[in-house]
Amino acid sequence: MAKVWLTGGTGYIGSHTFVDLLESGYEVFSTDNFSNSSPHVLENIRKISGKEPINYEVDLCDRDALELIIRQEGQIDAVIHFAAYKAVGESVQEPLKYFDNNLNSLLNVLRMCKKYHIPHLVYSSSCTVYGNPEQLPVDENTPMAPATSPYGLTKQMGEDMIIHSLQATRIGAVLLRYFNPAGAHESGYIGEDPRNAALNLVPVITETAIGKREKMTVFGSDYPTRDGTCVRDYIHVMDLARAHTQALEYARQHLPPPGYDVFNLGVENGVTVLEAIQAFERASGQKLNYQLGPRRPGDVVAIYADATKAKKILGWTPQRDILNIMNTAWQWEKKRSIEQ
Ligand code: UD1
Repeated sequence: MAKVWLTGGTGYIGSHTFVDLLESGYEVFSTDNFSNSSPHVLENIRKISGKEPINYEVDLCDRDALELIIRQEGQIDAVIHFAAYKAVGESVQEPLKYFDNNLNSLLNVLRMCKKYHIPHLVYSSSCTVYGNPEQLPVDENTPMAPATSPYGLTKQMGEDMIIHSLQATRIGAVLLRYFNPAGAHESGYIGEDPRNAALNLVPVITETAIGKREKMTVFGSDYPTRDGTCVRDYIHVMDLARAHTQALEYARQHLPPPGYDVFNLGVENGVTVLEAIQAFERASGQKLNYQLGPRRPGDVVAIYADATKAKKILGWTPQRDILNIMNTAWQWEKKRSIEQ
């Protein structure tokens, strides 16, 4: 049985991937210091998968502590590196915190790959590397644009660090560029559970509907789009989780180290903010209290994926749409609000 190391295995995308890997028969352990998650997630992964999830509470920037764990784990077949800070606005306020955490943790992961001969790496990248694209949809050959935030820069630099160290680390790396992850596990046991106030659209919608916020603001209604609001490609977190397992299988079977490949992960469908709100209202049967407001600085006007490559090469097919995203996000919000 192949052994997989997840960094950030109790975070939003990490926890859903944890479940998918356990259900696919992998032996999995995670390293997560719960900086933006909670130990309860482990209990819930166990409830869904029926297996005991292993997590070491360690900061990836603590190289010595990390090395003890990796040495103890013995032969590791692959690492999926999720752990990172991801709040765009915060990264503008505190750029050094983002450089320090996101780059040093990746550096230590690469050091472990090199020293302990971990042959495969799957890396969480983002469509943010494309900036404000001139042509839609964007495929993997779309040139990278200058980063618009320190967060985005850490994703671009992360990709470059991996690519430029391939000969030294001798890994086969799969870089996954996520579009907008949203939704929750169908069981309602895991979902997005940010420690601080949510900033992303779907949790802002569900928090408004449940009454944690009085109302929400649509950021900008004068964009050159069909209804004046920004267009995004919302991808269900369960479909995203599946893509990681498939990327891992692809790396192990078809990507001999050293080498790398890049994949966009999105549903190839652009949805405006107002359409997302309508989808929520349909899925929940509830009206949302929102107002139109000014643009949010730094927002990209419109972006959605051409994911042909992931479909063809990874054999990946996203199964869920925006209604399913809203439905599962809403079930999750209701459940977590009762438990809090
Ligand atoms: C951005 C990045 C993404 C990154 C994510 C992390 C881009 C293209 N995407 O996503 O790579 O992983 O941040 O947080 O750079 N909105 C509202 N009201 C709200 C919240 C959001 O109208 O209260 C709108 C935004 O203006 C945007 C859309 O909803 O048009 C989605 O916003 P959000 O969920 O924050 O994600 P992105 O900014 O697209």
